[in-house]
Amino acid sequence: MAIKSKGEPADTSAVLRLGAALESSESSRQDLATALAHERTLLRTMIDLIPAFIYAKDVGSRFIAMNAALARNMGTDPDAAIGKTDFDFFTPDLAKKFYSDEQALIKSGQAIRDLEEPGFDQVTGKPRTVVTSKVPLHDVNGEVIGIIGVGFDITERKMAEQRMAAGEKLESIGRLAAGVAHEINTPIQFLNDSIYFIREAMQDLMAHNTKLTATLAAMLPTPPEVDEEIEDLKVELPPALDRMADGLARIAEIVRSMKEFSHADQAEKSPVDLNRAIKSTLVIASTEYKYVADVVTDLAPDLPLVTCHGGQINQVVLNLVVNAAHAIGDVVKGTPNKGKITVRTRVEGGYVVISVSDTGGGIPESIRQRIFDPFFTTKEVGRGTGQGLSIAHNAIKAHGGTFEFDTEVGKGTTFRVRLPVEAAEREASAA
Ligand SMILES: Nc1ncnc2c1ncn2[C@@H]1O[C@H](COP(=O)(O)OP(=O)(O)OP(=O)(O)O)[C@@H](O)[C@H]1O
Ligand SMILES: [Mg+2]
Repeated sequence: MAIKSKGEPADTSAVLRLGAALESSESSRQDLATALAHERTLLRTMIDLIPAFIYAKDVGSRFIAMNAALARNMGTDPDAAIGKTDFDFFTPDLAKKFYSDEQALIKSGQAIRDLEEPGFDQVTGKPRTVVTSKVPLHDVNGEVIGIIGVGFDITERKMAEQRMAAGEKLESIGRLAAGVAHEINTPIQFLNDSIYFIREAMQDLMAHNTKLTATLAAMLPTPPEVDEEIEDLKVELPPALDRMADGLARIAEIVRSMKEFSHADQAEKSPVDLNRAIKSTLVIASTEYKYVADVVTDLAPDLPLVTCHGGQINQVVLNLVVNAAHAIGDVVKGTPNKGKITVRTRVEGGYVVISVSDTGGGIPESIRQRIFDPFFTTKEVGRGTGQGLSIAHNAIKAHGGTFEFDTEVGKGTTFRVRLPVEAAEREASAA
């Protein structure tokens, strides 16, 4: 075959064998054919073994060869693809892009190196990210007669990088939040001290005022007029101080939750009271749900400590609660109604189970298979990125747990996280 990439070193063993075969007479034609077939099989097997997409196309961008990995990805087989173009496999937009890149390459002779571009898995129907290099294919006279391309599927690596970046971002936000919470604690403390002082001082002042009024009354021939304003203050000041103390207690509770929720996740697992973690998470998430739903908790009083990465489980619960609030929000939007989010914990067959139920619209059948996929979202930009359930799924898997859901369109959804208790108890008692 005349097709050979320019500058490619000759395969000496093949040449020698071919030369030897040519030297012999008619009977050696058989040897020549066998040697060629052998070389072909050898090359084919090697190329098929490479976990990259390898292909050659003619000047019209028609496939003249492809390896098994690419054929698998395109849902075809290498022989059936010959003569076809990307328009037979990809969306018109994608095929047009590949075609114009290749035509430019054929015209200029300029190779494309390590170009990150979108790809598509025809079998699963999912988008992929591929790093592609394409070089011109020359004939023996140096004429460009097509292209040779190699593509590496880097989808998983990219996702891992994005997950890591998202994790790092959360971690630094968490550290900042924990720092802010710590800072707020100090002024809360002295406000509390001051309220205590004012309450005491006021009681003293009032007692003093009452005594003074009585003394004056005893000294004067006619009792002095009752000062209405002071009498009103005596009634109004104590509840005002109570409200201040109440407000401060609430701020302290929010700050404590913030600190607990965002306290940086240690590299090692540690025993966590998940009921307490859930309560903190619900305080943190309250702005997300309080206008659309009431939250009911049903937390098992005998829940054992679970040895886990508390920060990760907090993130899982937070995402489930926010998802529930969004699902309810979509249903109650424009009405005065509120939905209900129920968060439960219980011990079940060696597992701690956390469930989050909502009275939202449920998950339509058509997307149930995809909700755990990274970046799958039905929400508009800014409301969701489609990472919550995928990150949650990975975190729970890494804890040896399971993650499942029940849903009914028009009724609502329950997500259930099951984390093993046994491992927790073993690790906890060893500590
Ligand atoms: N409780 C629920 N009720 C109805 N649909 C849900 C529920 N939870 C998840 N979904 C569906 O699953 C999709 C994926 O959820 P996921 O938490 O992974 O991403 P997201 O909420 O869209 O974005 P992110 O969590 O990254 O902010 C959602 O966009 C939504 O369509
Ligand atoms: Mg979410």
